[in-house]
Amino acid sequence: MGERPTILVFDSGLGGLTVLREIVRARHDAHYLYVADDAFFPYGHHSEEEIIARVMPLIGDLIVEHRPDLVVIACNTMSVSVMAHLRAAYTVPFVGTVPAIKPACAASKTKRVSVLGTKATVKREYTQALIRDFAQGCEVTLVGSAELAALAETALSGGEVSDEAIRAELEPCFVGAGEDARTDTIVLACTHYPLLLDRLNELAPWPVDWIDPAPAIARRVTSLLPEGRGAPDAADAKMMFTSGRPRRLSAALTPFFGGRVPA
Ligand code: DGL
Repeated sequence: MGERPTILVFDSGLGGLTVLREIVRARHDAHYLYVADDAFFPYGHHSEEEIIARVMPLIGDLIVEHRPDLVVIACNTMSVSVMAHLRAAYTVPFVGTVPAIKPACAASKTKRVSVLGTKATVKREYTQALIRDFAQGCEVTLVGSAELAALAETALSGGEVSDEAIRAELEPCFVGAGEDARTDTIVLACTHYPLLLDRLNELAPWPVDWIDPAPAIARRVTSLLPEGRGAPDAADAKMMFTSGRPRRLSAALTPFFGGRVPA
């Protein structure tokens, strides 16, 4: 590793930027490569086998070409589907993003927690096992959303997203009645959803705590990579879309890169 590590952050689209933002805050001296596999978006509509077949060679090629010191899979759907295969096949360290069920259940006072993720994430055995192991007596409601990731992409790209469209995806998360017996904690189990956090708060039928795993992922990254010696402002950032789509979003995306305009 050189003075400044190279960190590859990978997602199906723009959602992983919510994880990148926290990592950049914690390690402003690294080289960042953000890759969006938008040619295969949405991952939440694919089977486990399809995701494994897609991600394994793609990550392999990125490792050969860019020699990252660490790879962050900034996508719950990928992480719960393919992480074990990645770790078995490649020696570079991986940090995944999985539904934050344990901290959510530990924090819930009403013992009612909802997990809002893609349809694929809520179906996977990995997620079911997290609930079996870490529910800590909570009633956990799994909500698989077909549309919310795409709505978040539209919103970040400057498109209109109606309240009705968001509300339809959100409403099944709110379970029970009475302040002491209703959902009080919702796990944002898709990295796209924090992009819509203001709207989620506005449209929630009652106030809840939203659990976003991004700060914990950033802490994991800093624990795996030794302290950088590069100048804090010397970091650079690159962004790639597998579809090869033209990038007209630099201004909207710059804050996620800590103020750097991604090349
Ligand atoms: N960002 C991805 C996740 O965290 C999901 C979006 C998709 O369906 O591609 O699960």
